[in-house]
Amino acid sequence: MTLATDFLHALPKVELHMHIEGSLEPELMFRLAQRNNITLPYDSVDALRQAYDFSNLQSFLDLYYQGANVLQTEQDFFDLTWAYLQRCHEQNVEHVEIFFDPQTHTDRGIPFETVINGLTQALAQGEQQLGISHGLILCFLRHLSEESALETLEQAKPFREKILGIGLDSSELGHPPEKFQRAFAAAQAQGYKLVAHAGEEGPAEYIWQALDLLKVQRIDHGVACLQDPELVAHLAEHQIPLTVCPNSNVRLRVFDTMADHNLKTLLDKDLKVTLNSDDPAYFGGYMLENYVNVQEALNLSKEQWLKLSANAIDASFASDARKAQLYQQLMELF
Ligand code: HPA
Ligand code: ZN
Repeated sequence: MTLATDFLHALPKVELHMHIEGSLEPELMFRLAQRNNITLPYDSVDALRQAYDFSNLQSFLDLYYQGANVLQTEQDFFDLTWAYLQRCHEQNVEHVEIFFDPQTHTDRGIPFETVINGLTQALAQGEQQLGISHGLILCFLRHLSEESALETLEQAKPFREKILGIGLDSSELGHPPEKFQRAFAAAQAQGYKLVAHAGEEGPAEYIWQALDLLKVQRIDHGVACLQDPELVAHLAEHQIPLTVCPNSNVRLRVFDTMADHNLKTLLDKDLKVTLNSDDPAYFGGYMLENYVNVQEALNLSKEQWLKLSANAIDASFASDARKAQLYQQLMELF
């Protein structure tokens, strides 16, 4: 590694792909379980961490949904989000657009309002006390029905101004984007920004569907795009952002090792790649840990780090004024 971790730490960062439920650290999970009188099926934090040995996306999702059961009150959602924002602050993450999965909570009887109030109060405090700007992206769970997604969109209506965009996550294979065309059309009519997970475990065809049928502005993951040269040309021509999550891809065995990751090829093909942490509590770390692991395995140049950092600013839904501030911070390093 020729570039120092100090340089990677100093880079002003923008995170565009992070599931807030995936930032639930085992220590906080145990604390919330105790606070809410819930018994976890693990004896200790260490035993829980040892269970984080995933073979694919589904094996992770099973634990991720189980872990989310400890989140019960507004205070729980606040504490979760505040812990994430403090990590951001330590790592010079300056702007975040975070996902939340309301159906994971409403399906177990937690009101939508409880979730959104806890999240937004922490985000507001993060903006005031830490200077971190933010947006919230509501994700539909794709293993559930489109009717359920449409109901969730209805539940979000009273909170429209607190939510920036709509996304699509959970089990990809067998749940193509086309399943959610009506729900995304309805979201578009309500003025939401649109994104979707596609091409993580699923094929390049799912990326086409997300673009053509759901009309998304960014693709979350998208690493499968290299299967289809026409798609690569389209993504490059239109500079459609890909929110790539390197540690996640290795932990979920999308790539065997970081050295096998296709990040450099994506950059070489002039794709608008950004780096993100996905589910930092489950995949071995936050933004900086992703940067460090990428650098150790792939040894990117300073110019490539500048490009990745600039891509994330461009790809964000921040205001032009905020983007200009972030650019200014980035340029001070070069
Ligand atoms: N992929 C799909 N759904 C998810 C993920 C992911 O990496 N993390 C949380 N939900
Ligand atoms: Zn994700």
